[in-house]
Amino acid sequence: MKKLFILLFTLFLQISINAQSKSIEERVMELISKMTLEEKVGQMTQITLQAVSRTQGTRNQKHELDEKKLEEAIVKYNVGSILNVYDVAHSIEYWHEVITKIQDIATKKTRLGIPVIYGIDAIHGATYTKGSTLFPQALAVASTFNKNIAERIGEITAIETRASGIPWNFYPVMDLGRQPLWPRLWETFGEDVYLAQQMGMAYIKGAQGNDVSQPDKLATCLKHYVGYSFPFNGFDRTPAYMSERTLREYFLPPFEAGIKAGAKTIMVNSSEIDGIPGHANYRLLKEILRDELKFDGFVVSDWEDINRLYTRDRIASSLKEAVKIAVMAGVDMSMVPYDFSFYHNLIELVKEGSIPMWRIDEAVSRILKVKFELGLFENPYPPKDYLNKFASQEHTRLNLDAASESIILVKNENNILPLNKNMKIFVTGPTANKLSPLNGGWTITWQGNDEELYPQEKNTILEAVKSKAGTNNVLFEEGCSFDKELNTNKALQKAKQSDLILLCLGEPAYCETPGNINDLTLPEAQLNYAMKLINTGKPVILVIVEGRPRLITKIYDKVKGILIAFLPGMEGGNAIADVLFGNVNPSGKLPITYPKYPNAIVHYDYKPIESYDVNRYDPLFPFGFGLSYTKFSYSNLRLNKTEITEDDELLVSIDVKNEGNRIGKEAILMYITDLYGQVSRPNKQLKGFEKIELKPGEVKTVTFKVNKEHLSFIGLNNKRVVEPGEFIITIGGLQQKFSLK
Ligand code: BGC
Repeated sequence: MKKLFILLFTLFLQISINAQSKSIEERVMELISKMTLEEKVGQMTQITLQAVSRTQGTRNQKHELDEKKLEEAIVKYNVGSILNVYDVAHSIEYWHEVITKIQDIATKKTRLGIPVIYGIDAIHGATYTKGSTLFPQALAVASTFNKNIAERIGEITAIETRASGIPWNFYPVMDLGRQPLWPRLWETFGEDVYLAQQMGMAYIKGAQGNDVSQPDKLATCLKHYVGYSFPFNGFDRTPAYMSERTLREYFLPPFEAGIKAGAKTIMVNSSEIDGIPGHANYRLLKEILRDELKFDGFVVSDWEDINRLYTRDRIASSLKEAVKIAVMAGVDMSMVPYDFSFYHNLIELVKEGSIPMWRIDEAVSRILKVKFELGLFENPYPPKDYLNKFASQEHTRLNLDAASESIILVKNENNILPLNKNMKIFVTGPTANKLSPLNGGWTITWQGNDEELYPQEKNTILEAVKSKAGTNNVLFEEGCSFDKELNTNKALQKAKQSDLILLCLGEPAYCETPGNINDLTLPEAQLNYAMKLINTGKPVILVIVEGRPRLITKIYDKVKGILIAFLPGMEGGNAIADVLFGNVNPSGKLPITYPKYPNAIVHYDYKPIESYDVNRYDPLFPFGFGLSYTKFSYSNLRLNKTEITEDDELLVSIDVKNEGNRIGKEAILMYITDLYGQVSRPNKQLKGFEKIELKPGEVKTVTFKVNKEHLSFIGLNNKRVVEPGEFIITIGGLQQKFSLK
């Protein structure tokens, strides 16, 4: 008996050592070899939690899983992935229950025990887990020009999402924000290629670390590959028109950077470029993504988008044809999301020989590889011991720092800011006393606009101002909603009783298509209300909270101070008050151009012809602009060489001094201008940035390294080239020339 036990134990040990010593590739191959067609196609199928629920879970109704349906999905249809919630955040304990049930079925009741990969849009923190740390949205993160903040946000989002039992985040958005009307602009890191690349890479590093199997890391998803963010008419999910050069120069590089940073998955552009829907684009999904960029993770469709090749785009004449087109174009997993039509159609297509088995094996092996890398086969369950790290004080502290660094001071007439705490302040406007406009979409719910679901202990701008200035010094009247004036007379009376008006305007929370607008101008009602307040003669400070640059041209010269806050998150109220009263010295800078006129959409890296004859880059506030309560001077811009070869590294140094008497942070931005080129070259391009802190009187030297990558561009033949010639470096208004031999 004892001998038998020892024998069995040795055998068990050998098997487990074997399992561990096998590479992931070997484990994938071994598993695939055991799988039936049905099991494989199931792995490629992703459904929404709604599809396996008895009650959906809304603000008034508790969510309930339909365990029969769940079992059917996983056991009968072999579903490999589930996503999202409908449409409200769950407690972390409830998430544990849901994920545990799902994984119990997947690992114990299916033939091969393959765990499910659950995916979610945890885009600014664990958005669908109650009480999570909800950070500034990407556009605001980009405004910090602080890579360390992006990395820490990635890290904490991973901790809190994985603590909820979810190992896969549909984030970061690597779309470039060059269409200010687009309702998803705030999900991007702004208009600049280099800034988006750096912020995205930092985020991925924080979220994935070196080993995504760790219980505090997760798999990221670059989205929405590629060109989704540049709809010609500004509406979400409408066509982009883009030459290969434009694609390669602007929209592809952030994805390239994300792939280099090791992102495990990619989601497809829900719309179309030049008439080809993202989900049908073999050139982009195979030839560029796989052959050129060597992406080796898996590609997931966006919501219902394979079906839409038939139901919306009409490039397929049936759902089945849509499945064939998308799978053969390179989509590995279908976010179906409500039914098993994809599963049935794909099985039929393979059986009748319209889709080869190698393509199925390819897709499934990519999906299984990520599941192995995540360690789901070893432990698919929520990590209990990470609960105490969820929404810790340390996380809130970082959230406040991130929000504080994201606020951009763009006007400060006669140094009216920071405010004196003893004055009487009238706080007013539609964004003054709500948390939802500070957070935007993907907050607790998809649209993020259900104010009642927000955590009451968090401060709105009004509450934060009261906590700093004292309740007795603060009067409030909303005065105006997002699109209608309310109680204006009462508001004007209160304005007259005060020393200063803090006018909080902007946008309500929105997300995707429901956020479409016809006009970039801030709604008339808000501008008219602002004019009435300005006409009281009391000084007005404007705080604008928004997901895209709504035009304020009519009022900007009549107010005394302006703070721009692009969705600063759950600590946004506190951060804004800290800046207003000088507890924080503002250091945010614009990651986009703030237009002056609706037709004047010109980016900072404009082409020569956009600044020729009567054409001008004449925004209200340029890219990279942002003031401080202290003054920084730049001097001694120097290069270690004035002539370099392609293999050289150029060192660019500058001294920055804090000339004022307040400590402050400053983002140093380095631009490069290529004077002449075979295709027209931009006015200038950001190629380096670093955020430093300086005490009064302190001087620091910042050094940037420039290599041929920074000087390259997409040439006449649509390939990246480096051309000899002259270049100009610009930092803080100073310039130096060098040439490339
Ligand atoms: C959005 C994606 C998101 C997906 C899943 C889609 O509507 O475009 O960004 O990840 O839904 O929620």
